[in-house]
Amino acid sequence: MRTFPDDFLWGGAVAANQCEGAYNEDGKGLSVQDVLPHGLRGERAEGPSADNLKQEAVDFYHHYKEDIRMLAEMGFKVFRTSIAWTRIFPQGDEEQPNEKGLAFYDAVFDECLKYGIEPLVTISHYETPLGLAEKYDGWRSRKLVEFFERYCRTIFTRYGGKVKYWLTFNEINSLLHAPFMSGGIKTPPDQLTEQDLYQAMHHELVASAMAVKLGHELMPGAKLGCMILGITVYPLTPDPDDMIAVMEKDRETLLFADIHARGRYPKYLLNYFEDHGISIRMEPGDEEMLKHTVDFISFSYYSSICATTHPELSEPTGGNLSRGYKNPYLKASAWGWQIDPKGLRYTLNRLYDRYQLPLFIVENGLGAEDELVTVNGEKTVLDDYRIDYLHHHLLQVREAIRDGVEVMGYTSWGCIDLVSASTSEMRKRYGYIYVDRNDDGTGSMKRYRKKSFWWYRDVIKSNGAIL
Ligand code: BG6
Repeated sequence: MRTFPDDFLWGGAVAANQCEGAYNEDGKGLSVQDVLPHGLRGERAEGPSADNLKQEAVDFYHHYKEDIRMLAEMGFKVFRTSIAWTRIFPQGDEEQPNEKGLAFYDAVFDECLKYGIEPLVTISHYETPLGLAEKYDGWRSRKLVEFFERYCRTIFTRYGGKVKYWLTFNEINSLLHAPFMSGGIKTPPDQLTEQDLYQAMHHELVASAMAVKLGHELMPGAKLGCMILGITVYPLTPDPDDMIAVMEKDRETLLFADIHARGRYPKYLLNYFEDHGISIRMEPGDEEMLKHTVDFISFSYYSSICATTHPELSEPTGGNLSRGYKNPYLKASAWGWQIDPKGLRYTLNRLYDRYQLPLFIVENGLGAEDELVTVNGEKTVLDDYRIDYLHHHLLQVREAIRDGVEVMGYTSWGCIDLVSASTSEMRKRYGYIYVDRNDDGTGSMKRYRKKSFWWYRDVIKSNGAIL
């Protein structure tokens, strides 16, 4: 029976800016997150403010030992986290790194390895140094490729012996939807042209390929992947025009995977540029650089949407960054994200058919409000709704493996409760581990095992035989 392979990487994922806190400790500089107190769609603040929950987040910076011990208790094989660029290069453009920042991640990775947990590291997860946003307008500037190279060289040299799995940019396609959070582009979105955005995209793509090249040179045996926000789209109706709408919407996402996997711009994108008067400034060597393709493709998957040319038949919906129409066959989370486990099987098959590269699901999960209760004298959360969501998604991962898809691993999102990215709140929780912190900033930061903690431990122990 084809099922989860023996070396399947089971685990969970977080990002530095959403869990670490300690936003200005040990020489850390500010990132774009420090001026986004209310998340992706909130107003940008002038500077850091106490109402930004990410300043302290869930204080992973001081709790990492306890947290990683709990992940080990669940049997994690892999732990995805990001390095905060601003702990290493506080402004982003310094010549020399900050030793205290480097030492912190040494300690985190050592702690993982102590328990046999492989770190999976996102190099840039929505935390571009604010200095680079202010001085250079983020990834609009070619200079960022140079700064990113210095950052990559520093962390690859330092952690190459400890970290085998790397992701370049979190949800790299989000640059087109959230230029400030994703790309540190300070210019307001309504003043940016498509030309500006695609030029910034080009810089990130060159930087991503450069990271793959450098990673392979400096860390023999390392595996480097891209990370795509997996927007899965269905036609709302069988109208052929709806299918064309799906094709077009799909390409907005797939173009990023196409370039990372095939090493060149796809023809449909070049034609789009030509039709829209967009011309990408390429430097000598860029085309060669893009040929350094990824070892695997990773993606986030939370929900699916519909595309249609008949908007009157449905209502708009979406997730963090995806925008589309409601699917009458699906239910949604309390935050309105449509829940679609079978869409994950479809997405895995679609990506594998297209690229024949190993796939890694590096985010998936249910954001929900939890209630802390006492059972047999222990505080816990009876989160059957979360177990149900994860159970149905993992069943579909198993189906995809049966279909023949090569899946390397699965890291559910926010394995420890953390501050949400889109709304910057604690109320929306994803974890197996509850953290006592509230939206008003109160809370003891104590950790508690939820019911899903024990469930996931059994899933891992049985290598997915018990789901
Ligand atoms: C992904 C991001 O888009 O979705 C994460 O990579 C984010 O950073 C996750 O936290 C869930 O979104 P949210 O808004 O519920 O935190």
